[in-house]
Amino acid sequence: MHDDRAVDGLMATFSSTKDSDLRVGIMTALFRLYHKEKRWEPKVAKDWWHTRPDDRGPYFAPIVWEQSAKIKTFVEDNLNVFESSSQVALLVELKRNRLNPAELQLKTGDKAADTTLALLEMTGKNINAVAGIAKSKGTQTERVMAFDALAKIPSVAVTKAQLDVLDYWDKNEVSEPLLVQKKIEYLYSTQHVQRIAELERLLPKLEQSQQAMVWTILLNLHNSPLVAQQSNGKAVKAQLKRIIDSNQSEQSLIAVQQNLESIKSKAGKRIAELTVDEAIKLVMQTNGDAKQGQDLYLRQGCIACHATTLKEVPKGPFLGGVGNTFDRRFLAESILNPSASVAQGFQTQWIKLANGGHHEGFVTAELDGVIQLRSIGGVETKINAKDVKERGTRQESIMPSGLAANLTVKEFASLLDYLQSLKGHN
Ligand code: HEC
Repeated sequence: MHDDRAVDGLMATFSSTKDSDLRVGIMTALFRLYHKEKRWEPKVAKDWWHTRPDDRGPYFAPIVWEQSAKIKTFVEDNLNVFESSSQVALLVELKRNRLNPAELQLKTGDKAADTTLALLEMTGKNINAVAGIAKSKGTQTERVMAFDALAKIPSVAVTKAQLDVLDYWDKNEVSEPLLVQKKIEYLYSTQHVQRIAELERLLPKLEQSQQAMVWTILLNLHNSPLVAQQSNGKAVKAQLKRIIDSNQSEQSLIAVQQNLESIKSKAGKRIAELTVDEAIKLVMQTNGDAKQGQDLYLRQGCIACHATTLKEVPKGPFLGGVGNTFDRRFLAESILNPSASVAQGFQTQWIKLANGGHHEGFVTAELDGVIQLRSIGGVETKINAKDVKERGTRQESIMPSGLAANLTVKEFASLLDYLQSLKGHN
């Protein structure tokens, strides 16, 4: 297969056909022909058999050959003839064939392909492109993906780019839940122990808002029991202490420290003492204890209207998989303000009976002329459909809004930790 005629033949066919499937096939074949397998040589047999086969691509030990340069130029010149989706797929294929897109001068002529290209080429010169995607108007998931991709670029310049993106998110769309979550995850990550020096170097060059992020990172590392556990934990803590002590008069540090203090003191506050927004903000930044959360789930009466396992009688919305479907913010809102978004199929129903009786609740089943209604107290009533005079639905959720009011922020965080841990359907 690796001969000049095969390569020329493929290229000629490519130019003479308009069939895009065939063209994709030819392009893929050319990617594969770019490299040749290194010949098996008894001298190095030892290396061959004793290393784990590399399964990244079609070759174990790829080398270039006489036609490689020509193939490279052809690929560079022709990628842009494809539809956007094919370009994206071809780029991934290119990478799989161990052709580094960063080393080709590709003309993609398409935005989606440029995005893929930037994500595939994890080199320093693409930091701006990748950060640009994270800041773009794409979906939250795409933006979070791009943010995660930044972390994979092996360059010190990444840290500044990450701070830029988070700052941009903050200033433009604070409330997008995935972005907020990502930011918190980033600020409280202990990975930063590896870039303390870089963070210190950046500090004086940053805007206030970014300085605040860096101080949050550094203070968190300094207080982190995880960092203390590391083998060089003592030295790292000393380094952090030196940085913090020598900046005690910095405005941005003082502000972050005050904020931390107020979070600490408010973590003991009861939810009822806070506004919904304050409560959500605090609980997003507070870690609880899922085990305690499970007790609270029982104590606060959630179990009266919800099931978390399939063995239980189905009631209100099944919560056994909420850890997969909802993020922390949504769960917090669902509890503090249930009527803000009422789960599909669980609207509150009111029923007037012919004898003057009145019932209100959500319908858990309606079978053989019997309606099962669960009331605000979690109590179930069975009603004969033939006794019903009138019925209708209400906007408000039957779930009471004050269920977390008597909890402290810390306890509420535990309840959310527990809900977030529910990821199965067992
Ligand atoms: C009186 C019955 C009742 C009680 C008690 C109750 N819930 Fe609910 N809950 C509902 C109903 C009905 C819905 C669906 C309507 C809605 O979305 O508000 C719901 C919705 C939810 C949702 C959103 C689920 C979704 O699929 O959108 C969550 C999360 C939730 N409840 C958690 C809790 C927790 C935690 C507790 C205990 C603190 C609790 N509930 C107590 C009746 C109840």
